[in-house]
Amino acid sequence: MQVGLKVWRYETDTGKRALKEYEVDAPEEATLLDVLDIIKDKVDGSLSYRKSCRMMICGSCGMRMDGGAVLACKARMYDFAQAGHVPVISPMGNLPVVKDLVVDMQPFWDKIRAVKPWLEPGYEGPQPGDKENIVSPEQMATIHKESLCIQCGCCTSECNSMEANPDFLGPAALAKGMRFVGDTRDNTKVERLEEYSEENGIWDCTRCYFCQERCPKGVDPRDAIAKLGAEAVKEGIDSNPGAKHAKWFVHSAKTTGWLRETELIPKTQGVINSLKDVKFAMKLAKHGKVPPPFPPHVAKDVKESRALHDIVKKQDVRGASGIVQGERALSRIEPHDDAYAAAAERGPYGPGSFPKPYLPGEKEGAETS
Ligand code: SF4
Ligand code: SF4
Ligand code: FES
Repeated sequence: MQVGLKVWRYETDTGKRALKEYEVDAPEEATLLDVLDIIKDKVDGSLSYRKSCRMMICGSCGMRMDGGAVLACKARMYDFAQAGHVPVISPMGNLPVVKDLVVDMQPFWDKIRAVKPWLEPGYEGPQPGDKENIVSPEQMATIHKESLCIQCGCCTSECNSMEANPDFLGPAALAKGMRFVGDTRDNTKVERLEEYSEENGIWDCTRCYFCQERCPKGVDPRDAIAKLGAEAVKEGIDSNPGAKHAKWFVHSAKTTGWLRETELIPKTQGVINSLKDVKFAMKLAKHGKVPPPFPPHVAKDVKESRALHDIVKKQDVRGASGIVQGERALSRIEPHDDAYAAAAERGPYGPGSFPKPYLPGEKEGAETS
């Protein structure tokens, strides 16, 4: 098949950038990485990118395709070639570019190191005659997804919060942190949570979910950050504005069935600090963006909201286990309205959704076993 790519080239010495178009003949099963290899071998040996395993496990080949991070060795090119679409390939975001598609991963590794990505068992190591440290399947479930991370940086590339604040620890480092916070053999859980709750940590995530959408390994780093937040609150590390903010959401939903936005800032930042934002609040009010605080806006069916709160409280599944329980419940949720039912009916590969994957030689849309 004929495959085209538009690749952003970057020369470190001169600082010049140029979008170069290539077209090559590639086998139907070719991935983006295969196509880059063909270009490098046969067309332009100066094209630079990283790779190693070619099987989605080393995490070397992260780059952007049409503006979103992908693993080049996971992205198949067949559908693009069939559609005649020429994707734009560029380096990952939020990291300095070294050359072409190669980024400097040092800031990424610095953040991973900052969360202490090793087990602190609180003892000197196994001694002769020691028994195994058994971790139960339930305990493992809390950190199963986080353990799948290959540290490719695709999540970091897409992180909005990091774009605004490069000091933010970011999704990969925080997911790594959760991997050790949730490990029952680690002896420094509270110290870790205190550190991760500081500025540039857990609570600086804006919950945009881009990291989750782009992670090629199903780590769900935003969920990992939610688990850290839940664990921090469970351990009583909740005097920072981020934790107060989250707790106010719960209180507000329970008491009125709505988010009481007008009170959100004073409850999060304290009354004195909120005074600084009065001018901004007045502007929002003028544009109808701030509901009047009195009388409080109470939902008609607030009893349902309160009952739900009481059920969750009675279950007493707190911390990371609560997030895992929520994920499981969401995956079992029944369609509740026509649009949702239509989407469920359509399935992930129906009209208007992703094309169904098939192997070379198979008919498009045929059932695969
Ligand atoms: S969380 Fe996912 S996207 Fe982020 S570094 Fe790990 S594997 Fe890559
Ligand atoms: S959800 Fe949070 S960590 Fe993930 S990309 Fe958005 S801001 Fe970054
Ligand atoms: S080359 Fe190893 S993950 Fe792509």
